[in-house]
Amino acid sequence: MPKVWVEKLLDEPELYLLRIDDDQIKYFEATWDIPEGITYNAYLMKTEGAVVLFDAWKKDYAYQFLETLSRIVDPKEITHIIVHHTEPDHSGALPKVLEANGYNAKIIGTAFAKRLLEAFYGIKENVHAVEDGEELKIGSRTLRFISVPWLHWPDTMITYLVEDKVILSCDAGGGYSIPEAIDDTNEEVVERYLPYVTKYIVTVIGHYHKYIVQNIEKIKNLGIVDDVRMILPGHGLIWRKNPQKIFEYYANVGSGIPKKGKILVIYDSMYGFVERSVRIAIDELQKLGFEPVVYKFTDKEAPAVSDILGEVPDSEALIIGASTYEANVHPRIRYTLYELLDKANYEKPVLILGTFGWAGVAGREIETLIKRSRFDHVDTVEVRGRPTDEDEAKIREGIRELVKRLGR
Ligand code: FEO
Repeated sequence: MPKVWVEKLLDEPELYLLRIDDDQIKYFEATWDIPEGITYNAYLMKTEGAVVLFDAWKKDYAYQFLETLSRIVDPKEITHIIVHHTEPDHSGALPKVLEANGYNAKIIGTAFAKRLLEAFYGIKENVHAVEDGEELKIGSRTLRFISVPWLHWPDTMITYLVEDKVILSCDAGGGYSIPEAIDDTNEEVVERYLPYVTKYIVTVIGHYHKYIVQNIEKIKNLGIVDDVRMILPGHGLIWRKNPQKIFEYYANVGSGIPKKGKILVIYDSMYGFVERSVRIAIDELQKLGFEPVVYKFTDKEAPAVSDILGEVPDSEALIIGASTYEANVHPRIRYTLYELLDKANYEKPVLILGTFGWAGVAGREIETLIKRSRFDHVDTVEVRGRPTDEDEAKIREGIRELVKRLGR
């Protein structure tokens, strides 16, 4: 059952984390396999004469959210609700909160969020749209709202608590999984968590990954990151030991900074023929000192595409192996490729290994798609069934060319 956490983060003003661990979810956005789950983090601030709620939880947990809020304040006392982003994993419980509140709270978001609140929930009264950089004095505190479009939707903003040097960042800085702690104090917890941050970034925000870099740069240029005390995202760990780390990590994933030696290998193999070609490629890679990370679709396994996508940003290059299947690319690779090009379209070298029985199509089709993308097509080796000595030489040569593109 989902666990609920209530943690006081500051005494003056009183600032609380309200987190629920969603261990019931299977497919985030009805698409991404996340057996690791996800958390929804909302925050509540009590300051002189005002009670400010920052975001909420998913609708499924609206009842638990109200119950949790009520442990700190009577929902009727909430004076302001800050809506950073209207995706319903953060806004779904808001109608219930407003009902319990008596519709007295002033709702604050971007103009885009204002439109979506009406579209999603019919909420249109008492909604105040703020401009990028606008500041509001609420109680004893100054809240600065900073628009970060496409992180993750065009409606998205973050809040900077000026006097306290705290950033409430919603999706930015978030990740999948249910960390066993609330914050980044324990390095081992952080190391276990970070791969889920990458997976989250690529699957959820990957389509807009150039905006990750732009928005992090924008926030840094405002001069609020160097001495920030806490970064409080809408998912996963909060950052208060080394808060700068999470934005740096986001910028690195957004730019696709590779880990030296990591090559991502993705393939299907219905009867083991593609695998023969792939094994030659892996052998050559290992001889040259690289570390292949392999995901394969066979009659015994089918990895989650969300996990494959999470491996792309820090890979140096990719190898894609595919069978020709009914004059097309094998369906598993076809779908993987579709998501890869949409969500993880980085300027990285790609070698294609196609295998066919009577007519080779897969390699050519993948090559066409790769050439239209930001990826750098290195070569395509098409093999009829088992690789011959000549095919093997071409595959090894393809690997050497791929390595050359990496400048080594
Ligand atoms: Fe966590 Fe874009 O919502």
